[in-house]
Amino acid sequence: MILVTGGAGFIGGNFVLDWLKNPASEGVINLDKLTYAGNLATLDSLKDDPRHIFVHGDIGDKELVTRLLKEHQPRAIVNFAAESHVDRSIHGPAEFVTTNIVGTFNLLECAREYWNGLDAAGKERFRFHHVSTDEVYGSLSLTDPAFTEKNSYEPNSPYSASKAASDHLVRAWFHTYGFPVVTTNCSNNYGPYHFPEKLIPLVILNALNSKPLPIYGDGQQIRDWLYVGDHCSAIREVLAKGKLGETYNIGGWNEKANIDVVKTICRILDELKPRADGKSYVEQITFVKDRPGHDRRYAIDASKVERELGWRPAETFDTGIRKTVQWYLDNPVWIDGVVSGSYRDWLQKQYN
Ligand code: NAD
Ligand code: TYD
Repeated sequence: MILVTGGAGFIGGNFVLDWLKNPASEGVINLDKLTYAGNLATLDSLKDDPRHIFVHGDIGDKELVTRLLKEHQPRAIVNFAAESHVDRSIHGPAEFVTTNIVGTFNLLECAREYWNGLDAAGKERFRFHHVSTDEVYGSLSLTDPAFTEKNSYEPNSPYSASKAASDHLVRAWFHTYGFPVVTTNCSNNYGPYHFPEKLIPLVILNALNSKPLPIYGDGQQIRDWLYVGDHCSAIREVLAKGKLGETYNIGGWNEKANIDVVKTICRILDELKPRADGKSYVEQITFVKDRPGHDRRYAIDASKVERELGWRPAETFDTGIRKTVQWYLDNPVWIDGVVSGSYRDWLQKQYN
């Protein structure tokens, strides 16, 4: 077995689905607290797969995590569980400290205790894979080189600061206790099952619902976009072949200004689902107040993972974004399930 945390969320859910697509893969214990971002509908297709064991619970629950490790004896933990939305971290940072820092600390301690009790072969085989973000490196100017693993940590938001803290804990557990960790720092993901509070799914759904497409500030902030399936393949590669104690930057070499991402989505929708009035979805673009402390540019230099592990993304931005838009058009039932009362409350709070 492997233990996946946060496997009912966007990336964790895609990871579990991709992992179990391979009939030769080991089973997955999926520990998820089912916060607003966790969604069991994402895992519907696994209902009859005995290799998937879902456990509703918190990575911060020492008793539960200890029991799961003892019972299932996983040979690896992949830690996706986190509060992940920068805007929510600005409104309420406490949960980010609790889950991302204290929760990761608890998971590390439970896992270390479990690992200490394994025999030599089990110890040698075990991996703790921590899934993190490029946002820990802070913000780049237009002319700065992309982030490498050697960049210093300069987090600017409560979200990125909490992820940076968790990365430091993971690093220290390797150096101090020899606990076998690998960390991946990935750029912005997009793709199926993405909760529609993040830019790409929000814009697709707002466009289809004749709502404004909110662009923060001047829309010239740059993100480096990676299709979620490529992130999942990179994690599988690093889990299998990554060097202990190392960090690997994962990215798609796809830097785009937010306004260009939104215009691309509009153009694809114009083609796949034209507006009834014949006008372009671009007409719905609205510039709104900027995010406080908004990082200007992220960019990942993914040459280490390419050079050392031979990983490369399969999708370009053009192929990935088209697939993504098509997925949202094809999956109204999943969408109806997430657009709940609490989602509407968030839109009201954030966009008034
Ligand atoms: P998400 O918010 O969609 O999902 C997070 C999942 O974790 C949810 O299912 C939630 O219920 C669960 N969770 C939250 N708190 C928990 C707790 N205390 N115990 C157990 N489960 C808990 O996030 P995501 O976008 O899928 O991101 C997954 C990971 O990847 C995060 O660690 C994030 O920092 C990292 N990451 C995300 C991106 C991105 O673009 N989304 C990019 C790089 C790295
Ligand atoms: P987001 O998807 O929240 O990811 P992150 O903040 O982790 O990069 O946002 C991506 C970019 O899009 C970011 O620069 C903020 C911007 N953005 C908007 O312009 N409007 C929006 O409504 C949202 C949610 C984000």
